[in-house]
Amino acid sequence: MTDELFNLRVGYVTFKNPIAIASMAGINDSAFANEYAGSAGLVVMGGYNLDDDTNRAASQLIARGRGEFISQDPIKFLQDEIDAVKGDCVVAVNVRSATLDPLLKAAEIASNAGSILELDAHCRQEEMIRIGVGEAFMRDIPRLVDWIKKLKETGVVLSVKIRANVVDDVQLSRIIESAGADILHVDAMKEGAGTDLNAIMRIRDSTRIFLIGNNSVTDFSVAKDIFARGADMISVGRGVLNNADLINDLVNKVTAYQQQIGWYNSPKHICGGEGDLRALAFCCLPVKPCAVHSKIKKLGLSAQEFANMKMNFARGTMLEYGDSTCFGSLVWCCKISKPCYLRDGVLDMLGMSSAEYMRLKKELATYILDNAKIHVNES
Ligand SMILES: Cc1cc2nc3c(=O)[nH]c(=O)nc-3n(C[C@H](O)[C@H](O)[C@H](O)COP(=O)(O)O)c2cc1C
Ligand code: SF4
Ligand code: SF4
Repeated sequence: MTDELFNLRVGYVTFKNPIAIASMAGINDSAFANEYAGSAGLVVMGGYNLDDDTNRAASQLIARGRGEFISQDPIKFLQDEIDAVKGDCVVAVNVRSATLDPLLKAAEIASNAGSILELDAHCRQEEMIRIGVGEAFMRDIPRLVDWIKKLKETGVVLSVKIRANVVDDVQLSRIIESAGADILHVDAMKEGAGTDLNAIMRIRDSTRIFLIGNNSVTDFSVAKDIFARGADMISVGRGVLNNADLINDLVNKVTAYQQQIGWYNSPKHICGGEGDLRALAFCCLPVKPCAVHSKIKKLGLSAQEFANMKMNFARGTMLEYGDSTCFGSLVWCCKISKPCYLRDGVLDMLGMSSAEYMRLKKELATYILDNAKIHVNES
């Protein structure tokens, strides 16, 4: 039921909702997942250290007080961990290795189990970076690309976990997408500034990849802000430790929101400066000087081409109607959260719910991005 409500599919994986638990080394293992994943759509366990180098580095981290998962037989440990998870939540394993071979074995285990492999290009602990693991991948693009390609050859659904504001986020995200990763998991951390919503928006406007937004989610309002910048899913780490009921609360709220408005990660309007390119679905007929012009230019479109594109989409759909609205058709109308008796009068007349209206706007946004002259993931 909820699978259809959100329609979130990546390769062989279907998420029942867009709420995930993020990996936390030394904390988030199968026992933790069984206790806290509850109704989550995804639990990312780990990070698991898969070779001697990473297990040695992890021991050094433990010696200075950090939590880590170490094992004498890391590949068997990984298999046992995946097997031990109960419930219907999709499982991902966040992994580290200084050599490719253990990662390939882990990819095989993950894909056989219908799970996701997540390459940790995020860890900033010096002991890991020194051996070329974690954050080191963000600075070694040829190796990152090569390993993504080789891991994808196993058929695994592959996520890459990065941290924003370390290197050029746009360039890195595009490289990860074009190398063939299925999911980009972004810790939108900005030192001293909480969640960097602009980083999520920047990445959304430069890729089409399935995007998980992460950092400092403690309630639904933060999650909603990340969704509104284009994340397909949000993940929570520390928030779960402080509030054991947070995941259930987020799942309940996002489910109610989706039922009510039909597009849980709908963007904000472009005029406010916070709307990503998907928000062109809510833009007016481009007849006045405003922010729409710089946005459509990024897609290589003239004002006329943009107008034609929206009208082509509307033809034969309910968005074609709306003589009494500002520009004569619902295709130019605002987001449902903006109160408007003119638009709502047309929706009433058509017997169209708010959720149906927003679902069509979502399709329109995809149509605009699909048919742009310059695709967002091209420079
Ligand atoms: C104790 C701890 C351990 C972590 N270990 C990992 C890890 O092994 N791999 C990884 O990709 N991220 C790791 N993270 C980062 C989290 O997955 C997440 O990106 C970060 O904590 C920000 O999200 P939050 O504000 O919801 O906690 C860890 C975070 C914490 C707090
Ligand atoms: S076209 Fe309308 S909705 Fe879009 S940016 Fe301009 S004023 Fe705002
Ligand atoms: S009729 Fe209302 S919803 Fe439509 S464009 Fe005008 S103000 Fe926006």
